[in-house]
This record gives sequence, structure tokens and C-alpha cells, in this order.
Amino acid sequence: MSRLKIAAGNWKMNKELEEALDITRTLANSSRPTDVLTILGAPYPFLKSLVDQTLYVDHLDIAAQNCHHKVSGAYTGEVSVDMLDSLGVQYVIVGHSERREYFSETDDMLAEKVNLLLAKQMIPIFCCGEPLEIRKAGNHESHVGSQVSNALFHLSPEQMKEIIIAYEPIWAIGTGETASPEQAQEMHASIRDLIKDQYGSEISEMIPILYGGSVKPSNAKEIFSQPDVDGGLVGGASLKADDFLEIIHSF
Ligand code: 13P
Repeated sequence: MSRLKIAAGNWKMNKELEEALDITRTLANSSRPTDVLTILGAPYPFLKSLVDQTLYVDHLDIAAQNCHHKVSGAYTGEVSVDMLDSLGVQYVIVGHSERREYFSETDDMLAEKVNLLLAKQMIPIFCCGEPLEIRKAGNHESHVGSQVSNALFHLSPEQMKEIIIAYEPIWAIGTGETASPEQAQEMHASIRDLIKDQYGSEISEMIPILYGGSVKPSNAKEIFSQPDVDGGLVGGASLKADDFLEIIHSF
């Protein structure tokens, strides 16, 4: 079965509105492969403008980088799933390692976010990945496996089908050091196997698993060519339209 190919950018806390509109305009106006979905993970304040800008553009969608795990209420400064839905945002990055680390997000909170998103027919891009010491100790597969099972395995099969997973080894994020294609493939296959054990092969074969961590134009092709790697979640290299376009064309 052929899975959806996805090139997702995560701009993190970078860019101002005009720059964000510029990158998006360039991507919208450039030729892109019709079988690759491009998603731009943008800061909250830009979302409405970017959603409007891409409304009639094929294969180009906008993601939020986070959402709150409660429906609404006295959470000053936070942004709810309903708010994002009301802007027309369809994708939300959930559980990025930076959120887990700097904002103490737990598996339970991530499970709540995933539930709220699915209830609104929005698609979570669920992030997982191990720190260097866990990799060095050889415990990376069980570490990532428990991140996935703790936050996702309460879902029904119908819900699980909607998830996109992004494997991002923390030691490869923003460091210039990429996981080797073999390391990425090994982990992606292990995640897919885990999902197969829980949900069966029909569902495990449907779920896109993206790799993130220092993806660049020079290494994207090799990583994306691995059988269980369905695309990338790209930080730094998504901040330049030309670099990101090259990555989009790497499948
Ligand atoms: P870099 O591509 O800058 O390493 O960031 C990866 C990432 O964290 C994407 O979510």
C-alpha cells in the first residue's frame, strides 16, 4: 500500500508575519509534486493569514505547533483546539520534544490533546523521540515505544487511522547531526510494528511516519527513500523557501 508522502515544516519561534507570508507565497506559486502533501507549522499569530492564503492551493496546508489540553477556561495566554478549528487549521503538532522538555508536557496531556483534536476532525502530528543518553544505553526503541503507546493506544482503530507520527531523535534536532537512514528506518519499522501489534497491519501500514532532525536538501533523498520513512518534519531548513522546496522534491 502506498502511504501519503508528507513534507512538513516546523518554523518554531521564528519569522515575522511578512516573512511567513513570503515563504508561503513562494511555496504556493512553485511547482510541487502532486503526490506530496506540504504542511507548514506556523506560530499562532500567523495561522489565520496563512490558512486564508493557502485556502485554494493544492497540497499545501497549515499546522499549528501546539494546542492546549483543556477545552477552554482560565488558562491565560493559551490556545484551544476549538480556537484553532475556528481558524480553519487542520493539523496540529503535538508533543514536540521542545514542548515536552521546556513546558513539561506529559504523555497524559498529549493524550488529551489528541482526543480533543480528533473530536474536531483535526489531524495530530504526534512527535516522539529519544535523548542521546537513552540512545547510547540502547533503550531508544522502548523509550519511543512507550511515548507512542502511552499517548495513542487508548484510541479506537478508526481514530488511530487519522494520526501522523513524527520520529525526531532529540540528539539530531538543530544539531546538524542526522540519524543515519538505517537508524531512521530501524526506528520507523519498530514504531510501525508496535502499531501493528495493537491495531493490525491494515492500520499500521496506513499511518505516515515522518523523520525529523537536521533534515536538509543534501540528506532528504536518502532518508525519504527508506521504506518506512514517509517524509520529514523539518525545522531549520523549512525557514528558507528554496531549501524547503528542494526537500519537497526529494521523494
Ligand atoms: P531541525 O530540522 O532544525 O533539526 O528541527 C527538527 C525539528 O525539531 C522539527 O520539528
